[in-house]
Amino acid sequence: MRKIHVIGIGAGDPDQLTLQAVRALRGTDVFFLLDKGEVKADLTGLRRDMLDVHLPERVYRVVEARDPERDRRAGGVAYSPAVDDWRSARADIYARLIADELGEDQVGAFLVWGDPSLYDSTLAILEEVLARGEVAFDYDVVPGISSVSALVARHRTGLNRVGRPVQITTGRRLSEGFPQGVDDVVVMLDAHQAFRRYVDQDVDIYWGAYIGTPDEILVAGPLAEAAPRIEELRAEARERKGWIMDTYLLRRNPGDG
Ligand SMILES: C[S@@+](CC[C@H](N)C(=O)[O-])C[C@H]1O[C@@H](n2cnc3c(N)ncnc32)[C@H](O)[C@@H]1O
Repeated sequence: MRKIHVIGIGAGDPDQLTLQAVRALRGTDVFFLLDKGEVKADLTGLRRDMLDVHLPERVYRVVEARDPERDRRAGGVAYSPAVDDWRSARADIYARLIADELGEDQVGAFLVWGDPSLYDSTLAILEEVLARGEVAFDYDVVPGISSVSALVARHRTGLNRVGRPVQITTGRRLSEGFPQGVDDVVVMLDAHQAFRRYVDQDVDIYWGAYIGTPDEILVAGPLAEAAPRIEELRAEARERKGWIMDTYLLRRNPGDG
């Protein structure tokens, strides 16, 4: 039976791999690296660097494949079908990779950014591949340090305040309104700087881009003061590198409900 590890590799720093992740890397014959195109080639490079760091003397194979682009024009009610189509297209690729590139008794691995449980579709895609019944395999999941944990660690703060909830959401959702019943909100996948909508409220921001990599940028402070600085740094970094990955915590202060 083919075996697959889905390995959370942390937010970008090779030191963020857990001992469990390193053990799983050492037991892997074939690594599957999926790349969305030129601008994401850096991410494939970072994954390869992690393999170099942690498997200096081991022989393994790396198979790179092109990840299909998601139709980002679809919005509102069309959002879910677009995501479903994209998942199906990815399932076709994953099924082919597993069937063609992994021998019957070999171990393969997908290296997932951060933690596989958070805004990542690898597990859903593998379940779809299994449900189709065309290729059989067993898989397990190795948790990783998410960009959320890495963000708050770098800012030396917690996610929640005492006895209070915290919510993790997307930039798209934050642009529709501050979530109800919660004052601490972590925002991921925000291409449009949705925090700008809240600059006139008493909110602090803890922002980080490329966390854990040599390009890391951190900014924290009252949102009204930090927002213009973040916009400037973000635009400059995006221009320089061609892509950006940023995450932030918004912390609303009492009395501004
Ligand atoms: C598809 S999600 C994957 C999240 C990942 N599974 C995790 O646990 O962090 C991609 C989003 O994660 C965040 N992200 C991932 N790595 C990051 C990093 N090194 N620095 C800042 N944000 C990061 C960004 O919000 C980005 O838009």
